[in-house]
This record gives sequence, structure tokens and C-alpha cells, in this order.
Amino acid sequence: MKVEIFKTSSEASKKALELFKLALSEGDKVFGLATGSTPEELYALMSESADIDFSEATSINLDEYYGLDQSHPQSYHAYMKHHLFNQKPFKASYLPDGSNEDAEAEVKRYDELLKENPIDLQLLGLGSNGHIGFNEPGSSFDSTTRLVALADSTIQANKRFFDSEEDVPKQAYSMGMQSIMAADKIILMAFGEGKAWAVNEMINGEISPDVPATILQNHDNVTILIDEAAASKLNN
Ligand code: F6R
Repeated sequence: MKVEIFKTSSEASKKALELFKLALSEGDKVFGLATGSTPEELYALMSESADIDFSEATSINLDEYYGLDQSHPQSYHAYMKHHLFNQKPFKASYLPDGSNEDAEAEVKRYDELLKENPIDLQLLGLGSNGHIGFNEPGSSFDSTTRLVALADSTIQANKRFFDSEEDVPKQAYSMGMQSIMAADKIILMAFGEGKAWAVNEMINGEISPDVPATILQNHDNVTILIDEAAASKLNN
């Protein structure tokens, strides 16, 4: 793992932008993308950047809330359009379909898409409980796409985006751990003191499904971009 600590999230996001530009210049074509607060600054930088062009690239997102239609303002489809796709369209963009109630069919469709589009560069955020994608603590390292129950701490963390806690979906479709680990390169960003425990576990903790991000210790091309607050509990 390559760990880079920046004074601010803005500096870390600038570094992530440079790594995406490098990947594009080296011919990477499939980008795994994340949602949430963490990549917002990166997506804003990409949106403004004249020399970023995704029109020949494919994006494939980590997850989507179950039960939310694409047009729902808090769906990850809507998030991606607002923060990136409207400004920087990809040749093709895939997210799980949260409105598909047939979980078996949806999971199969997404795993086939992942097979057809092996990910060159995967962007990840980090849950304060150590989740990656919506692979909550206890998720098997062998997991592929599936319908998952969101941890209570995730529902609490994400209620800020909804009118009330009751409105937060309790389930989501998520890419599995195996699919994340299959990416050629991974960039994980984490900002703020709320992530400090998970950051330290991810880097220094024992590899265990109890803290899903610890599996990244086994990947041979991971760059961790964190701010000083997220680095504040690093114990060596
Ligand atoms: C989002 C995702 C999640 C988030 C994580 C951090 O697509 O997969 O793992 O990256 O919950 O969320 P934020 O960035 O809002 O703190």
C-alpha cells in the first residue's frame, strides 16, 4: 500500500485528479467509481479540467440504493449525473439498477457487466466502520455483486442526505469484495477524523472481514490518499 498524507482534502483530491489523468494517458479505459461526500471535490476538479476526456472510457459504479429509481434525487444515478456525467460523459456508464426488485437477475446482470469490463482503475471511499462499496463488516472476501443490508452506522452516516432517517434505504446493491480486488489499480480516499479509526485498521490492522478494507493490504497496487485528520490515528 502506498499511503500519502495531505494537509487538506483539496490537496488529496488534486493528487487523485493527477492519477486519473495519468491512467487515461496510459490507455486505461474502465474506471470503477464511488459516490458519497469523499469524491465530490475530485469530481468537481474533473468536471472543470479541460484535459480530462472520458468519451472513450467506461464507468462502472460500486453501488446503488435498493428501491430508489434513477430519477430519485438521492439515487447514486442522480449523484453521478450531477457531479460528473453531465459535465464529463463516458462512452458507457453502468450502475446497479436500484429499482429492479428481481435481485437475482440484477446481480447476474451486474456481474456479467463486470466480467465484460474489467476495471483498470477503481476509486474507493471508506466507511467509518471500514466498509468499501457497501461491503459492510462481516462481508466475505469472496463476495461478488449482491443485495446487502446496510449497517446501522451506515444508515446513520447517510441520513444527512435524506429528509429523515426513515427515508434512508435499508438495502443496496453492491459490487463484492472479489470484484473490487480484481481491479488493476485502486485509489482509496478518506477524509476527516471520523475515518481515522478505519484508516488505521485498514493499514495496520489484521486482515479480517470485520474491517472489510483490510483486504486491500493484499492488493499490489493500492494508493491511499488521506488528509491529516484521517491520518490522526495511524499508529506507526
Ligand atoms: C459509495 C460507497 C461507500 C462510500 C463510503 C464513504 O459509493 O461505496 O463505500 O465511499 O460510505 O462515504 P462518504 O464519502 O460519504 O464518507
